[in-house]
Amino acid sequence: MFNKITYILLLCTTFLICPAFSRFSVNDVHAMKELALELAAPDIKEDQETYLDALGYFVSLFPQLGHFQKMEEAIAELLRECQCQGQFVIIDSKTTPQHGNSHDEVFFIHNQTGELAYVVKAFREPASYKSRYLLEIAANTLIEQNSCAHFSTVDILGSALCIAHGAFFALLLETPAPGTRLDQFAFHTSALDASDPLRELKMAEAKEAFYAAGAALARFYQIENLSWKYLSRDDAHRIYKKLAKVKPLHEMIDLQALEVYVDRIVQQALETPFKSGYQHGAAHVRNLFYHPELKRITFIDNGHLVKSFEGKWQPIGDPAQDLVRLQESLFHKACDKLTEQEMDTLIQSIYQGYASQGTLPDKRLLKFYLLERKLSPLTDPENPEHRDLINYSLEYLKKELS
Ligand SMILES: Nc1ncnc2c1ncn2[C@@H]1O[C@H](COP(=O)(O)OP(=O)(O)OP(=O)(O)O)[C@@H](O)[C@H]1O
Ligand SMILES: [Mg+2]
Repeated sequence: MFNKITYILLLCTTFLICPAFSRFSVNDVHAMKELALELAAPDIKEDQETYLDALGYFVSLFPQLGHFQKMEEAIAELLRECQCQGQFVIIDSKTTPQHGNSHDEVFFIHNQTGELAYVVKAFREPASYKSRYLLEIAANTLIEQNSCAHFSTVDILGSALCIAHGAFFALLLETPAPGTRLDQFAFHTSALDASDPLRELKMAEAKEAFYAAGAALARFYQIENLSWKYLSRDDAHRIYKKLAKVKPLHEMIDLQALEVYVDRIVQQALETPFKSGYQHGAAHVRNLFYHPELKRITFIDNGHLVKSFEGKWQPIGDPAQDLVRLQESLFHKACDKLTEQEMDTLIQSIYQGYASQGTLPDKRLLKFYLLERKLSPLTDPENPEHRDLINYSLEYLKKELS
């Protein structure tokens, strides 16, 4: 558990040794990243009160750009403060197919020639416990420090606070992830007719991207401190909460048999040790980009990474979880667009890429996470995003139960 005295000492030393630290300029990126890494450490995060103090302190260091009617005006001011030269068009990602689902906002900054020059992520209420602002900067810094030929992340160029349309935001200016978002590789394939010979070519590009993603996740989790762990009982029991919500579907599936099956999968997962490591935590197709010439994966939206550590940055993440997350997100996004064979090929590519860097995680753990994912659409059948997936989930479960 993080010691409060250490934290107070840390703050005092920060003020005494480096008075310039008492207030960041938008360009003090290096200092900002180092401090984020310090303050988002898992031992602080575990103690909510201390974490909120640390978060409040971190946020208070930033210059406030002012009050704006529109977020675009605040972003224009941030670009000026960060000395980004030229004329830019600021596009709200919600108006494009490239948006995310969180309550944070993302803006694309295009230059005069129409290229994506920068991205600004706007974190709502950055000093609240729920915000991923500090965690994202910390995780990004950690990935940057460990980046290699297989993976990297985007560069943070500056940050500042603002009030826009009545709410408090922290703006984070970053470089665009090079290459193409992974789901786009599947969509580029599906946009071509089955009889079009180009479809095979697009499929080959997609295979390469998903293979690279598998290899990147494997390298990522190998960074350091691999030690043997078991799934925590809390982790394992998450699945029962889902199971409870599936009950209204009793006409569609044999719930008694499902319960027995879930018990068996949970029991097997609990008895299976895994080598823990760094885990992205939200390794879905919309958070990974692949650049075919660089042959490298870029991770974005890294704020969940911190969850896979315990004190002193000891990794405790299970690599099987990232793998299944990637596989299932591909399935969710593209199962109605690709043929069954194409889908299988891409999922296999992920696992082949992963295996190319060592060994695959134990099947029993993979099965546990897969079951967790397959139950998800059934827990909220009214959700329009889930509606089409319910049949796939039921199909999977019925096959497992038979
Ligand atoms: N640096 C970047 N370069 C290119 N595109 C980006 C960048 N940052 C964000 N995006 C785009 O914006 C989308 C949403 O960004 P991000 O994943 O960071 O936000 P989010 O809303 O937290 O997402 P999620 O839905 O995963 O919670 C991404 O899927 C991607 O398409
Ligand atoms: Mg995202």
